[in-house]
Amino acid sequence: MNFIPERYAVELRHLRYFVAVADEKNFTRAAERLHIAQPPLSRQIQQLEEELGVTLIEKGARPVKLTEAGAFFHVHAQELLAKAAELKTMTQRVGKIERTLSIGFVASTLYGLLPRIVRRYRAQFPEVEVTFNEMTTMQQIQALKDGVIDVGFGRVKSEDPNIRRIVLREERLIVALPAGHPRTDMPEAMSLVDLQSETLLVYPKTPRPSFADQVLSVLHERSIRPLKIIEVRDLQIAIGLVAAGQGVAVVPDSVQGMRREDVLFRPLTDRHAVSPVMFSVRKQDRSEELQKMLAVIYEVYDAANIGYIRETL
Ligand code: BEZ
Repeated sequence: MNFIPERYAVELRHLRYFVAVADEKNFTRAAERLHIAQPPLSRQIQQLEEELGVTLIEKGARPVKLTEAGAFFHVHAQELLAKAAELKTMTQRVGKIERTLSIGFVASTLYGLLPRIVRRYRAQFPEVEVTFNEMTTMQQIQALKDGVIDVGFGRVKSEDPNIRRIVLREERLIVALPAGHPRTDMPEAMSLVDLQSETLLVYPKTPRPSFADQVLSVLHERSIRPLKIIEVRDLQIAIGLVAAGQGVAVVPDSVQGMRREDVLFRPLTDRHAVSPVMFSVRKQDRSEELQKMLAVIYEVYDAANIGYIRETL
């Protein structure tokens, strides 16, 4: 049997308070974020340091600076808080009678296979209530940890110790051009080098890293510099501005599913111009709904002749 001391004075509250101070690097902003006054926040941090018997925050440093022990504690406190949140959402999920699956997705997946996958899933498992939230990949990671979504379909390969990420496939990138652009008279594929004479619209502007950074790094690897780069909020704005003749955009192949007369698409010859489609879930979540979702995705890939490497949850 594990021995748990009767009075263990470090509580989750202390971890939350410390993480807020370490993240914000400022006691006033941390207190605001926690919706408490600053003096009780300072007292709690002091209590925590007394209980641990080490200094976590350098005295008098502005902005707040963590000691080596403080930086160590920060990383592990974040992990513990994420685990506590996961314990809550996973327990609620196990205890639920009705089956639900909340999906977070980046907009481009909606123009590709996502509708087909969800239609098939609904037909096979009508008892599961499916809901949708459009969000960036980085927002999906937080939403998974907060229990807001159960699965995220995104494009950025970010690492998080509490998230399991499966790369479903690597999708080719293509170029979106305004109708009337000289290239639209030529049916052949384009090369990334052609973008040197163009204004390039990239999205989303925030949060970073994002799909914008993927496109910029593909160009950077080949030392390709477009005439001008304009960062915009999301895919819909980028395509709308392409239609308005403001520039061109590099988008995943599935965006061709968004049919508009004023925008034309051309493939790219560059083989490394790809973007992954990722399936992200909470690390411990192996629920039936997720296993079935992954199986349906692979069924759709098989039917569409799309190459992939099969993974299991
Ligand atoms: C895909 O396009 O590969 C995809 C989109 C959404 C969910 C799963 C896969």
